[in-house]
Amino acid sequence: MDTTPKIIGVVGAGVMGRGIVQLFAQAGHQVRMFDARAGASAEAKVIVTGLLERLVAKNVLKAETLAAQIENMRICGGLPELAGCDVVVEAIVEDLGAKQSLFHELEEVVAGETILASNTSSLTVSAIAALCKKPERVAGLHFFNPVPLMKIAEIIPGIRTAPSVVDALRLLIEATGHKTVTASDQPGFLINHAGRGLYSEGFRIVEEQVADFAAVDRIMRDCCGFRMGPFELMDLTGLDVSGKVMQSIFEQFQQEPRYRPSSLVPARLAAGLFGRKTGEGFYTYSGTQKIEPDEPAMPAASEKTPIWIGEGERRTELLHIFQQAGAQIVAQPDAAAALVLMPWGEDITTAALRLGLDASAAVGVDPLLHWDKRRVLMTSPITSALARDGVHALLAAGGAKVEVIADSPGFVSQRVIAMIVNIACEIAQRGIARAAEIDPAIRIGLGYPAGPLELGDKIGAGRILHILETIESITGDPRYRPSLWLRRRAMLGLSLQRETR
Ligand SMILES: NC(=O)c1ccc[n+]([C@@H]2O[C@H](COP(=O)([O-])OP(=O)(O)OC[C@H]3O[C@@H](n4cnc5c(N)ncnc54)[C@H](O)[C@@H]3O)[C@@H](O)[C@H]2O)c1
Repeated sequence: MDTTPKIIGVVGAGVMGRGIVQLFAQAGHQVRMFDARAGASAEAKVIVTGLLERLVAKNVLKAETLAAQIENMRICGGLPELAGCDVVVEAIVEDLGAKQSLFHELEEVVAGETILASNTSSLTVSAIAALCKKPERVAGLHFFNPVPLMKIAEIIPGIRTAPSVVDALRLLIEATGHKTVTASDQPGFLINHAGRGLYSEGFRIVEEQVADFAAVDRIMRDCCGFRMGPFELMDLTGLDVSGKVMQSIFEQFQQEPRYRPSSLVPARLAAGLFGRKTGEGFYTYSGTQKIEPDEPAMPAASEKTPIWIGEGERRTELLHIFQQAGAQIVAQPDAAAALVLMPWGEDITTAALRLGLDASAAVGVDPLLHWDKRRVLMTSPITSALARDGVHALLAAGGAKVEVIADSPGFVSQRVIAMIVNIACEIAQRGIARAAEIDPAIRIGLGYPAGPLELGDKIGAGRILHILETIESITGDPRYRPSLWLRRRAMLGLSLQRETR
């Protein structure tokens, strides 16, 4: 297919359909929209027109272009009016039966070479195409909300999709300014699959009482550079939607433990705590404004505890922070000192006992993080208040915030980041997307500060492997087993982004 203006049909004029209509209208195509609910397409046209007018007001769009684009959006009273379309994109209700019958009916209407694309986020593209006479013309075309701003679309060939259909969709979408990534027809495709790490590990951490929802979010935001933590994000998308995606990806991957949903979700759903849309989720909202919960108070000043710092590559940096704060540093882990460890993948109990240290005097400082805004202090179940509060005060002395968490193999950040990297490695191992395409797609689709494979390379594949193996051996939970992609690249000293076949 060339890149000259086309006739694009959009079926379903809801949140996604509207965005898809806007994208194609702005790219200069003729768009025909149909929705089964009377009046829905007209409402969609009014909304899209309003958004385009705002662009004119901001001088992003010329007034004459606006008129042409409005002219190009046509409301259809029935499917037969889509007869002349080159491509039809479906964005109706997420129901396999409904999508199958729509595609079956569309085939009766459109020309033999018309491409039929589905915006499904969780159904199998091959199943949607199953009732079609020409399943080779059917592909997944997965946009993200809001479509004009989320500049990525996944193209998902079903088992029978013709390669020419994938190429044509890629050309069509990239000409709109969006990037594309080709992902295989597997649960969650690429981007929703990759998103599992942040959510599911965030929940595991809360389930284990390591930290509460808000503390996990603060750590991921302030120390790891994420725009939002997992619980803020779920409040935005709605737990009713995210909860279903979690369950569906887990079931479709035959109950793979890496994607295990949380037992905390059903009660929250039953109570209607969906997030922003219900005014209450993990946070409460005043209108659209999130009410930030108070952070735990600083402990009252206590007597100064001498500090011993264990081995670790950031020891000098930590020593400097403590010295600046006026700490008395001791050379040996003597009985009066608070013992500060910086473990990778271990909890404080395990690290202290391995080193033959007194766990009641031991605390951990997470060595993975940026330490400028917020520092994370971890305690064993028997760490004394004296050791905990003494180190807390020193970490806070320069103005940084301190998050105190309970014992956890890999703190919060190491667990979540190792899980994100491991799942991206598994996506590469399963050939769901090419390694080179994974990071750019995830950066745009999930808004992460770096692509997960790049992040893994930065931390070191060997270190990520060590964190996962250590957590797996401490917890016995197979969700932490390392992907073979990660293991082999760590062993061979290769970049995680390197495709080898
Ligand atoms: N909302 C998101 O963030 C998001 C993101 C990516 C993909 N998706 C997928 O996009 C699709 C649409 O989602 P949405 O959020 O826009 O839903 P929505 O409920 O906002 O809109 C769906 C529209 O389809 C219409 N419709 C339902 N059945 C129809 C039929 N048989 N024929 C014609 N019109 C019909 C409805 O009247 C409604 O206007 C779903 O498959 C969803 O999984 C949604």
